[in-house]
Amino acid sequence: MKLPTWNWLTLVASLLLTVASGNHRDVSHRRGFTPQALEDLRARSLYGRDTPVADRLYYTNATKEYFVESLPDIPKSFMTEMYSGIIPVNMSDDSRGFFYVFQPRVGPPVKEITIWFNGGPGCSSLEGFFQENGRIQWSWGQYSPQINPYSWVNLTNMLWVEYPIGVGFSPGNATAINEEEPAAEFIQFFKNFQTIFNISDYKIYVTGESYAGRYVPYVANAMLDQNDTTHFNLSGALVYDPCIGSFDYANALSVYPFIEQYNNILGFNHSYVSSLADRDKKCGYAEYRKEYMHFPPNATQPPLYLNSTADPDCDLWNEVYDNAYGVNPCFNVYEPNLQCPLLSDPLGFPSDLIYSYPGLPPYFNRTDVKKAMHAPVTTDWELCTGPVFVADGGPEDYGDLSADPLQGVLPRVIEATNRVLISNGALDLEILTNGTMLAIQNMTWNGKQGFQKAPSKPIVIKIGDIQYEEVFESSGLGGLDSYQGVMGVQHFERGLMWAETYLSGHMQPQFQPRSSFRHMQWLLGRTDAL
Ligand SMILES: *[C@@H]1O[C@H](CO)[C@@H](O)[C@H](O)[C@H]1NC(C)=O
Ligand SMILES: *[C@@H]1O[C@H](CO)[C@@H](O)[C@H](O)[C@H]1NC(C)=O
Ligand SMILES: *[C@@H]1O[C@H](CO)[C@@H](O)[C@H](O)[C@H]1NC(C)=O
Ligand SMILES: *[C@@H]1O[C@H](CO)[C@@H](O)[C@H](O)[C@H]1NC(C)=O
Ligand SMILES: *[C@@H]1O[C@H](CO)[C@@H](O)[C@H](O)[C@H]1NC(C)=O
Ligand SMILES: *[C@@H]1O[C@H](CO)[C@@H](O)[C@H](O)[C@H]1NC(C)=O
Ligand SMILES: *[C@@H]1O[C@H](CO)[C@@H](O)[C@H](O)[C@H]1NC(C)=O
Ligand SMILES: *[C@@H]1O[C@H](CO)[C@@H](O)[C@H](O)[C@H]1NC(C)=O
Ligand SMILES: *[C@@H]1O[C@H](CO)[C@@H](O)[C@H](O)[C@H]1NC(C)=O
Ligand SMILES: *[C@@H]1O[C@H](CO)[C@@H](O)[C@H](O)[C@H]1NC(C)=O
Ligand SMILES: *[C@@H]1O[C@H](CO)[C@@H](O)[C@H](O)[C@H]1NC(C)=O
Ligand SMILES: *[C@@H]1O[C@H](CO)[C@@H](O)[C@H](O)[C@H]1NC(C)=O
Repeated sequence: MKLPTWNWLTLVASLLLTVASGNHRDVSHRRGFTPQALEDLRARSLYGRDTPVADRLYYTNATKEYFVESLPDIPKSFMTEMYSGIIPVNMSDDSRGFFYVFQPRVGPPVKEITIWFNGGPGCSSLEGFFQENGRIQWSWGQYSPQINPYSWVNLTNMLWVEYPIGVGFSPGNATAINEEEPAAEFIQFFKNFQTIFNISDYKIYVTGESYAGRYVPYVANAMLDQNDTTHFNLSGALVYDPCIGSFDYANALSVYPFIEQYNNILGFNHSYVSSLADRDKKCGYAEYRKEYMHFPPNATQPPLYLNSTADPDCDLWNEVYDNAYGVNPCFNVYEPNLQCPLLSDPLGFPSDLIYSYPGLPPYFNRTDVKKAMHAPVTTDWELCTGPVFVADGGPEDYGDLSADPLQGVLPRVIEATNRVLISNGALDLEILTNGTMLAIQNMTWNGKQGFQKAPSKPIVIKIGDIQYEEVFESSGLGGLDSYQGVMGVQHFERGLMWAETYLSGHMQPQFQPRSSFRHMQWLLGRTDAL
């Protein structure tokens, strides 16, 4: 998730409104689950196994305090070996640390760790754990938790970390004014983690989404600085719908062609679309795309900064965002093909609106869940909090003073690993695919600027539908769901893989888990193409 700064005001205001209107009153009394409902969902669970002590790969005297025996409302059969809790930055001082969930691969053991960060800035990586690439999935509109058959835990050891300090349960005051500081703290945490779990000589992969498009390259870069392949053998990185380049401006630049192509799902009227087309020209956006969207690029893009106060008529992305809610109150900037109803969300945040069914509190804010996960019971957990960057300004006004990663740290990570994947969901309206592509075309890595050829090779997804297979069978439609086919476009040059993902918004592992599974197979070196 990536929120424009001004959205925090809206968020706080809507939270206050929710509280004032008493919507929270029955939250603490009910969980929304009857014993019969739990029995039903156990009966429906198709996968899962218990992990006897002997099968636990990482269970020792040092780790047992983090071991998760069971989770409220999650059938025991869903549980595999899993650890969570807080590990401090400095083991002799617990005032600052990171809350993590570690889940070893379900399947043959591997000597590798994949780290996942959500964005915001200020949003918890437990979103990824619970709704994107984790094994236990309780996502938008799901009445009860399920096993996610496309979990990355099928492939690798996963480590979700609430980042930077101040997010979720990670203790300490938010002090970051740039990307370097939290990355340095992460390095300390990760050393401690490896000591506690007796891990060394693992391959390390750093992944994330949205604002983590900044975290991932800076954390990976800090790992390279360690000169320590025993603990920091960085082997690849992946970012989804990333905040790289001049991302706010790139959204303004790219939004009109997006509307032109996808207005069938947004429903703007003809005169509004024409007004956007006019201003797309008047503001110089059409011309800019013509000049700079080239393969290979024929120039460096000039620095861009959109001053929306001085130039409100050219603030096209924010205007589209505001107007979309009128046409469709269930407008979801992260997945704009959704219509009403607004989906219930066990994490309380199914679009930019704060919502769940009454009686379904944010899962990680429940006292029983906090206890089960070794989280501090006195910390109020919210999916997104902030601000977690506390400087004034920064290149994109997020209180984060670090340079755009494209200008140094990301090229270095590509050159060091030759295995970096940048991907965007074609339907994402939060970070537009062509904005991300413009950003890549302004980056120089492994000796050249940008991609030399336009992406054109299809991504063909042959993984069958495992999740709903049985429902298709029992509905008499067995087999119709077996094959997805062409689900995107890939392109590889000089260590960088690009993937556009069709039929996906912002949270790709949530919306196109099979494509994401494929991305991970590539990242981990199990295949050479997508
Ligand atoms: C684990 O702790 C127990 C109890 O303190 C002790 O008896 C045992 O030797 C320890 N095991 C190891 C491998 O250190
Ligand atoms: C870790 O914390 C201890 C206790 O507060 C302090 O003495 C020590 O200097 C800290 N270490 C580092 C590297 O900051
Ligand atoms: C993931 O593992 C489960 C077993 O735990 C299996 O049922 C499922 O098919 C696997 N998914 C994929 C995509 O291979
Ligand atoms: C966080 O900041 C508050 C007020 O600024 C202060 O009272 C508190 O001690 C700080 N907490 C830590 C862990 O530094
Ligand atoms: C740590 O792992 C090594 C093998 O990687 C093993 O030999 C050693 O016994 C382990 N130590 C503990 C305390 O589990
Ligand atoms: C890593 O190596 C570089 C170049 O040799 C050196 O400048 C840097 O200080 C080293 N870093 C650490 C943490 O030792
Ligand atoms: C580091 O990982 C690479 C794969 O990314 C592997 O080829 C290499 O052997 C590893 N190095 C060490 C020292 O483990
Ligand atoms: C993205 O850019 C490509 C190449 O310029 C163009 O063909 C395509 O229509 C654009 N798509 C959108 C959704 O803007
Ligand atoms: C790049 O080349 C195209 C023609 O291939 C041209 O239209 C455009 O003006 C050029 N852009 C720059 C910045 O030179
Ligand atoms: C393109 O890259 C140059 C050089 O790194 C940088 O100065 C400029 O700000 C970038 N342009 C955009 C639009 O990000
Ligand atoms: C944006 O424009 C307003 C009004 O013209 C001006 O006061 C402000 O300084 C500008 N902000 C920046 C960062 O240039
Ligand atoms: C989390 O729980 C606390 C205490 O029960 C409550 O005050 C707070 O409003 C809850 N937060 C959310 C986002 O529901």
